[in-house]
Amino acid sequence: MRIEKILQSRIEKMDFKNISFGHQYSDHMFCSEYKNGKWKNSIIKPFGNIMFSPISPVFHYGQAVFEGMKAYKDKNEEVFLFRPKENFKRINKSAIRLEMPTIPLDIFMNGLIKLIDLDRDWIPKNYGQSLYIRPFLIATNGVLSAKPSKDYMFIIISTPADSYYKYPLKIKIEEKYSRSSSGGVGFTKAAGNYASSFYPTRLANEEGFDQILWTDSSTHTMIEESGTMNVFFWLKNKLITPKANENILSGITCNSIIDLAKKEGIYVEKRDLSVSEIIKGLQKGELKEAFGCGTAAVINYFKMISYKGNNFVLPDIPENQRISFFLKKSLLDIQHNLSEDPFGWRFPLKRFL
Ligand code: PLP
Ligand code: COI
Repeated sequence: MRIEKILQSRIEKMDFKNISFGHQYSDHMFCSEYKNGKWKNSIIKPFGNIMFSPISPVFHYGQAVFEGMKAYKDKNEEVFLFRPKENFKRINKSAIRLEMPTIPLDIFMNGLIKLIDLDRDWIPKNYGQSLYIRPFLIATNGVLSAKPSKDYMFIIISTPADSYYKYPLKIKIEEKYSRSSSGGVGFTKAAGNYASSFYPTRLANEEGFDQILWTDSSTHTMIEESGTMNVFFWLKNKLITPKANENILSGITCNSIIDLAKKEGIYVEKRDLSVSEIIKGLQKGELKEAFGCGTAAVINYFKMISYKGNNFVLPDIPENQRISFFLKKSLLDIQHNLSEDPFGWRFPLKRFL
């Protein structure tokens, strides 16, 4: 792989005391091209603009998929990725559904490892902070007719990250718009899933809510996920999360939380979950906690859930007594190499250099 280093790093301009998600990017990016049925020209080069033909299907037909993952530092500044092969598997699952070529494991992992090693100074050092890594695959050439592209580009960029949501969230259960539908692409990280959520999310924001709690598109009676997070409910001393199906992104954070909770002896249910069950739980005071989780979001506490104009405020449990706080700490401790890693989730960069 060719490596073209930046002449003058931009890190001096990075304010690690005020990290704003997605506003600053590390010095380099990784690119690999897919042309004539083959992957070639893998390169790490300075982060910068890229140029494609205006007829590229990514611009017209949204043929684009992405991933989100993180690199952490421990106290000795050793670098760890968190379950990177899960992101590798998922981007290829998304690519297949969008009729795109899959990315070979060596291209994904070598590009990732070399890029993060080169830009390791961009990984913040504090607990809870990380370098958010964004691998993405886009369709770069074709003809204007609605057909899959002939050429593709796989790119990895990264941005220093702190908390994605800075405060507990007010959530609205959606009854009109949908994020995904049966037979669709809800289970993938297709770019268009996010574009189509922007308008209903803005409407919810204007009503005073931070995020939407999506429900199934045909009946709006079953809970799916929220914003860029899978969701959990602490109901009658059970931790319940909607079972991932074709409408729901199977979250790596969600799956990790399930394993962590089970290991701690917490009773976990992954199953279909109705809006009425949640509302009853709220009315009877049996729903003690609700939270969302994801790579960018980590774990985010919901303080209010709204349904049909009724705002239900969740109990104000002190932070250190919340199950969400306990699970967040357990997860971050593993990610920052502060605790045992019983599941083998940490990926120490130095072992692969
Ligand atoms: N659901 C959606 C729609 C997301 O964008 C994300 C974020 O990646 C998640 C769930 C959580 O997935 P993960 O934990 O793998 O980041
Ligand atoms: C992630 O958590 O990786 C996401 O996809 C969130 C992102 C859309 C900001």
